Amino acid sequence: MFRLQPPLPDDYSRATADDLHRRVVSARSRLGRRLVILGHHYQREEVIQFADKRGDSFGLSRFAAEQREAEFVVFCGVHFMAESADILTGPHQQVILPDLNAGCSMADMADLDGVEQIWDELAEVTDIEGIVPITYMNSAAALKAFVGRNSGSVCTSANARPVLRWALGLDANGKAGASAPAPRAASGRRRVRDKVLFFPDQHLGRNTGFQLGYDAADMQVVDPRRRLGGLQDAEVKEATLLLWKGHCSVHQRFQTSHVEAFRSEHPGGIVIVHPECSHEVVEIADEVGSTDYIIDAIAAAPAGSVIAVGTEIHLVERLAREHPDKTVVSLDPIVCPCSTMFRIDLPHLAWVLEGLLEGEVRNRIVVDEGTAADARVALERMLAIA
Ligand code: 13P
Ligand code: SF4
Repeated sequence: MFRLQPPLPDDYSRATADDLHRRVVSARSRLGRRLVILGHHYQREEVIQFADKRGDSFGLSRFAAEQREAEFVVFCGVHFMAESADILTGPHQQVILPDLNAGCSMADMADLDGVEQIWDELAEVTDIEGIVPITYMNSAAALKAFVGRNSGSVCTSANARPVLRWALGLDANGKAGASAPAPRAASGRRRVRDKVLFFPDQHLGRNTGFQLGYDAADMQVVDPRRRLGGLQDAEVKEATLLLWKGHCSVHQRFQTSHVEAFRSEHPGGIVIVHPECSHEVVEIADEVGSTDYIIDAIAAAPAGSVIAVGTEIHLVERLAREHPDKTVVSLDPIVCPCSTMFRIDLPHLAWVLEGLLEGEVRNRIVVDEGTAADARVALERMLAIA
């Protein structure tokens, strides 16, 4: 979604890095406990060094929900993360995104109109009360609200498995029928919920489905540009996982040929990838997990390990620096940063912090209360499951 971030005043765009650094240090100390800065692992070094809390999207949303004291939460990440923080923080708190153009191209692949359209079309061919909508954290607040209204949940890459288990009533072994009793329908009867509509990332949905023991025949891709997602009625009826046709352009770049090339150069090497990578890559990787998982896995690897990581380059380079006793490289030698995470830089951080000192809240992210109330249901459900 296009949002307009006006160019910064010259005082910021022309300032030296040293000057901006000094100004951020000073603003931060003057704001004291009124301010909390959150930093996603994909942020640049010049920014993440100022984060009071670093984390993946799940860790940061949980942390945001716990911050009751700070008046201002500056979210160094992307738009959907700042929206989630606004939903989970109190009315006395204001969430700020230093650059409004820091969106997420994957999140933009699903919007409320598109999801409602597909939902209505699905209702024409199957019992819609049997479908649980699950939205990945990487989605607009309006979609989280849709999910909240329809008895679904948000998930992140760190908790997609328990959330899908909950949705499909699977026990820890992946068998049906145990854990989550489905909500009651208006009639008071328990609904039988045996399908999930998962959006917007088909890869996270598919990889999690395979981890839970489903196979390709249980999954169908829903193309939002085609009627009924381009599916036949029977395909909808027989599927368990309906996967929205969305992807992350950063993670979709990783190919099986990268894994093969790394393994031929480093036969004892370890490959760790994020679950937004394609299933073909995940299938032959040694480990798969969220950004927090990747960080822990590298910390736990023995000294001397050679590890190729399939995720955003800022995190990979940081891990390489933090573990000089191990060799940590990008799985794809042609480096590709997340261009929207990259938008948050020192000039923008200094600009929003100095605005606060001047009594001006710049780039506040506000989710309207109607949307926030429904989205909160879906987010809190996720926090309760995981
Ligand atoms: P995490 O859930 O691992 O933080 O990932 C978010 C994301 O945008 C990955 O591309
Ligand atoms: Fe979105 Fe991909 Fe960037 Fe993550 S890495 S914020 S999914 S575009």
